[in-house]
Amino acid sequence: MQCVLPSQLPAAAPVGPSPASLRHGVVAMPNLAWTPEVARETAHLYEKVKSVIPPIEWPFHAPYVKAINDLKRERNAVILAHNYQTPEIYNCVADVVGDSLQLARVASASDAEVIVQGGVHFMAETSKILSPDKTVLIPDAKAGCSLASSVTGADIRALRRQYPGVPIVAYVNTSAEVKAEVDICCTSANALKVVESLRSDRVIMVPDRFLAANVARQTRVKIIAWHGACEVHERFTPEELLRYREDDPSIKLIAHPECPPEVVEVCDFSGSTAAMIDYVKTRQPSRVLLVTECSMADNVAAENPGVNFVRPCNLCPHMKRITLPKILDSLVHMREEVVVDPALAARARRSVERMIELK
Ligand code: 13P
Ligand code: SF4
Repeated sequence: MQCVLPSQLPAAAPVGPSPASLRHGVVAMPNLAWTPEVARETAHLYEKVKSVIPPIEWPFHAPYVKAINDLKRERNAVILAHNYQTPEIYNCVADVVGDSLQLARVASASDAEVIVQGGVHFMAETSKILSPDKTVLIPDAKAGCSLASSVTGADIRALRRQYPGVPIVAYVNTSAEVKAEVDICCTSANALKVVESLRSDRVIMVPDRFLAANVARQTRVKIIAWHGACEVHERFTPEELLRYREDDPSIKLIAHPECPPEVVEVCDFSGSTAAMIDYVKTRQPSRVLLVTECSMADNVAAENPGVNFVRPCNLCPHMKRITLPKILDSLVHMREEVVVDPALAARARRSVERMIELK
């Protein structure tokens, strides 16, 4: 595998002014008191999270949970939440949860008028690209991603000049501008399949050098990789994981493919966040360590009470920008609206749809 160098500094994804509040109107901020009615109406939701949210914290979450669920109906809105969202979002207000590929598929099929993205900016942008007629909101527009900010559209054009004729695959963790320049997108769930579908002896993968290296280990296609990395997954080391295995040889180690290949190599399984969840659900290991962002262990633990989770905590600071108060604020004020230039969105859509259509 070969690694190319950056041609310029990362650029933050732009968000334009929001006319969404003019189109949909602004409603009054609901009452956020902890009342017997709130306790009654949210009791079934607390059941889902009681193993990971202590009872003393629930009165702070519950009024937001009720207000968000009421307002979602009023706004004809759905909340699409990534597997890394906190348990009160993932279990109590999300309509759909999943990995990037699953969320992209739902965004293209949903008939809601409004999508609120529980996730980072590139995910909301992907929803907008796939649903240009819907209002897409992100509760905190600063929720970025170290991968998405490591490559720009200009970088892709430079790669085209440097490697004429070599197809370029962009991980969905990229801006709309990058998606518009590449041949096809991929996610961690389908990266190998996407690379091999191109029937080329060389393929460029941006921006994750570790995902690229993990794909390179499984294919004869020569992978040319960009230099980006996920700030959460790059921190894991094989040494720390092997120490857990020394303590308990029966522990199952399950890694996300954004981890360095030497980490993936010492693990029992590697796959997208959805594939990791599926592994735990179907195999019910007695003890497991999810080598990924740590909110996911809370979400999977709530659904798998028989599994004992070892929790090294690497948090994604961008994912953690999304909170219940910000989701409520989003639905009340219809902000922050995600805007993508329609011509750019049409080009980016081609790359995402090409991936979604791949069976
Ligand atoms: P998944 O597509 O596996 O959910 O991964 C997205 C992501 O950002 C992981 O860090
Ligand atoms: Fe980006 Fe890593 Fe956070 Fe995923 S975990 S959103 S790849 S920074």
